[in-house]
Amino acid sequence: MIKLLTVIGARPQIIKAAAISREIALNFSDEVREKILHTGQHYDNNMSAVFFSELGIPAPDYNLGVGSGSHGVQTAKMIEGIEKVFQDEHFDGIVLYGDTNSTLAGAVAASKLHVPIFHIEAGLRSFNMAMPEEVNRIVCDQLSSILFAPTQTACQNLKAEGFDASKATFADGSKRKVVNSGDVMYDNSLYFSQISAQHTSIIADLDLIPGNFILSTIHRNNNTDEPERLEAIVRALLDIAEEAQKTVVLPLHPRTSKLLPQNLSSETYHRLMHSPWIKVIPPVSFFEIIELEKNAMLVMTDSGGVQKEAFFFAKPCVILRPETEWVEIVENNAGVIADADYDRIRAAYNELSSRKVTFPPLFGDGHAARKILENIIGYK
Ligand code: UD1
Ligand code: UDP
Repeated sequence: MIKLLTVIGARPQIIKAAAISREIALNFSDEVREKILHTGQHYDNNMSAVFFSELGIPAPDYNLGVGSGSHGVQTAKMIEGIEKVFQDEHFDGIVLYGDTNSTLAGAVAASKLHVPIFHIEAGLRSFNMAMPEEVNRIVCDQLSSILFAPTQTACQNLKAEGFDASKATFADGSKRKVVNSGDVMYDNSLYFSQISAQHTSIIADLDLIPGNFILSTIHRNNNTDEPERLEAIVRALLDIAEEAQKTVVLPLHPRTSKLLPQNLSSETYHRLMHSPWIKVIPPVSFFEIIELEKNAMLVMTDSGGVQKEAFFFAKPCVILRPETEWVEIVENNAGVIADADYDRIRAAYNELSSRKVTFPPLFGDGHAARKILENIIGYK
């Protein structure tokens, strides 16, 4: 029996962790014991607790309650808390997801105490060092014993950085290993989309016509914190919605809700809040967003996860970022990078509304969690 500490903190990590916890319960309960540590990076009910109850994730064994703060303060508090857990209790490895400050903290704390790191969603690169997530994922990859890459591109990125030929040796004598595991988010989308409709009536509640509305999410720090970028995105959404007469559903991350009034012009803020074509709503649950993604005509987002789920549910996606780590989506013509540029967003919408798009299976076979656990069990 091996004992793992799973560290989560931000909304997408809670969702991703559901795939591994489910697989342990179903197929690996004799071999793996998992304990969950929530850093408390996300803490609102609709950013955290809702996912535990809805997705059947065991309650965290530890909650550090770190909350929001500057990157340094937030990460430092997390490192301190995770280190203490490792000092009190032995674990055979730590499981980390993605690229948030919770990921970085877990990697730093574990590496100092020689706890093997298993990084899920390794190898992704935007090649944009101004992104906090790029810094976090590079550090975590460097410190990880097994790097679980979700796509072929992520494997190639690691190869290009010399990971497979690396001489680095960990305290237990092992070398780094790269595994093309597929994407646990694809596992989740396949699994939960079978039951989501039974558990939510969001399409009817919001008076939406299936196939005739746009789903949009905005939360990246460069979009929310830079007034010009936020203004361009919101104006483009408003003009598209009003001219095409399409409803836009905008479940807003708390970061964005807090910054809209101060970073939008008063005219655009007023239009956003009063347009009959825009539905600004609080963050929704996972079942609700799956139903929105399945029934939308098109998705416009700066989220990594929502970009991919759009692809899983065969929806074209306007990417509100200067680049993407999920290059397969763009290479397959299912997504267009429009950045936060008013004209490019409008052109991308027009192009994707009429383009014939295909959605080949590029994110694994829906059994990434099983492959990940087999490799962790086989680790030595
Ligand atoms: C974090 C991740 C980002 C990820 C996102 C997922 C880092 C550096 N960034 O960004 O990669 O895409 O989570 O959603 O780790 N807030 C609340 N309630 C909450 C959580 C946050 O009000 O429950 C507000 C606070 O004002 C906080 C702000 O949102 O300051 C930003 O939260 P934070 O966790 O620092 O970063 P995210 O933007 O959520
Ligand atoms: N999500 C959700 N409710 C929302 C918005 C997003 O459940 O209101 C889910 C979404 O389906 C995806 C994950 O949260 O699985 C993505 O998280 P987010 O966009 O916050 O972060 P990112 O993926 O960009 O790191």
